[in-house]
Amino acid sequence: PAPESLISPLRLSSVRGIMGHLFFCLLLWFCLTVTVLVLPSPSSLSPGEPGSMTVTWTTWVPARSEVQFGMQLSGPLPLRAQGILTTFVDGGTLRRRLYIHRVTLRKLLPGVQYVYRCGSAQGWSRRFRFRAFKNGVHWSPRLAVFGDMGADNAKALPRLRRDTQQGMYDAILHVGDFAYNMDQDNARVGDRFMQLIEPVAANLPYMTCPGNHEQRYNFSNYKARFSMPGDNEGLWYSWDLGPAHIISFSTEVYFFLRYGRHLVHKQFHWLESDLQKANKNRAARPWIITMGHRPMYCSNADLDDCTKYESKVRRGLGGKYGLEDLFYKHGVDLELWAHEHSYERLWPIYNYQVLNGSFQQPYTHPRGPVHIITGSAGCEERLTPFVIRPRPWSAVRVKEYGYTRMHILNGTHLHIQQVSDDQDGKIVDDFWLVRPLHSRMMYL
Ligand SMILES: *[C@@H]1O[C@H](CO)[C@@H](O)[C@H](O)[C@H]1NC(C)=O
Ligand SMILES: *[C@@H]1O[C@H](CO)[C@@H](O)[C@H](O)[C@H]1NC(C)=O
Ligand SMILES: *[C@@H]1O[C@H](CO)[C@@H](O)[C@H](O)[C@H]1NC(C)=O
Ligand SMILES: [Fe+2]
Repeated sequence: PAPESLISPLRLSSVRGIMGHLFFCLLLWFCLTVTVLVLPSPSSLSPGEPGSMTVTWTTWVPARSEVQFGMQLSGPLPLRAQGILTTFVDGGTLRRRLYIHRVTLRKLLPGVQYVYRCGSAQGWSRRFRFRAFKNGVHWSPRLAVFGDMGADNAKALPRLRRDTQQGMYDAILHVGDFAYNMDQDNARVGDRFMQLIEPVAANLPYMTCPGNHEQRYNFSNYKARFSMPGDNEGLWYSWDLGPAHIISFSTEVYFFLRYGRHLVHKQFHWLESDLQKANKNRAARPWIITMGHRPMYCSNADLDDCTKYESKVRRGLGGKYGLEDLFYKHGVDLELWAHEHSYERLWPIYNYQVLNGSFQQPYTHPRGPVHIITGSAGCEERLTPFVIRPRPWSAVRVKEYGYTRMHILNGTHLHIQQVSDDQDGKIVDDFWLVRPLHSRMMYL
């Protein structure tokens, strides 16, 4: 069908005209609260087990929360789902009120494409589409991964939109730092950013973790605008995707202690127990991938935490809650970071020691986790330079705008590519991470 058939008769602009200040921005995520967090065994994901997807949007006036959806690209949308409305009051001087709608679509058929619109009788969004995740572990998810994308100078966004339209991805991982900043101008920068990412985020699960730019008013814009799995306001959570278990967490608990030192402890113990559960399920889902905003290593020419030997993320606070030991002990395969506005790949590493699989094939059966720092999607702060002499543990450094593609082929093979937006989409880094199916739980 022609693309016009996807546009509802009532266009977004005319909706705005009618309602005065009704405004939409949409986000999807794969709701795994039941299938994963409560019942982490693979049997809970048996074929036929229904998937779900949560749609999140914002209006500037109170309204009902409804999603109409169906499987036909055009024509009526026969299915309905209702959700909940919460009022978000921004912390700025105007105390602006935003109305956040969350509707979960359930019993989705695996791998099937759905069309939906959301809103209420007061006004409907245009139509969007998404594909429900496939069931089970034997499929090959493709993701785009990046951090540090602002409302201004979002260099990666046009290509990400094109990639999304072409159906290149199953999900997006945005590794912290949004909009610069969502709270700015009484949260209007947040509104503008959500509208900008809508063509991606309304058609694909857009998975997030908090970065330092979200910290105002105790991360309240972040907590309000995104809906992540679990019951922790998206600060830390995990989810399963094909052969991978993906853990998202907040590095910011180590830095913004004024919001509560107890959060460091709470998150650390959650991470430990989540990693234990993931390892019990490792035969089914061999990959454990983490995402957190501030890296524990980097070779950038600034004074960030990752440039320090005793990085807080790596070593914790006062010798406690360090993440390097925790992730190494539980055999984490891949650690995704951002915060530095550049791309850097490390040789497999633990405690500053390079642990190549072999000299010829460092990423085949590596003896330590692999780190990728991908924070160059583009923001007003521009790119971060590197120190002149590369560190011995640094494999590749790219100071160009871009983002990362990750293809989780199967339980043993994972492919990473770095796309350069400065070079019109050229692939500027490309490697395969290969780990055996067995003895994944511990590095030897
Ligand atoms: C900040 O938010 C977290 C999680 O929502 C909460 O546990 C903590 O108490 C809050 N801190 C303050 C100072 O309100
Ligand atoms: C790891 O492998 C890379 C690529 O072959 C090599 O340049 C580097 O020196 C190796 N490091 C160690 C410690 O073996
Ligand atoms: C994963 O794919 C690679 C490349 O096709 C193949 O060599 C490998 O045997 C596969 N692994 C599993 C567990 O199927
Ligand atoms: Fe940051």
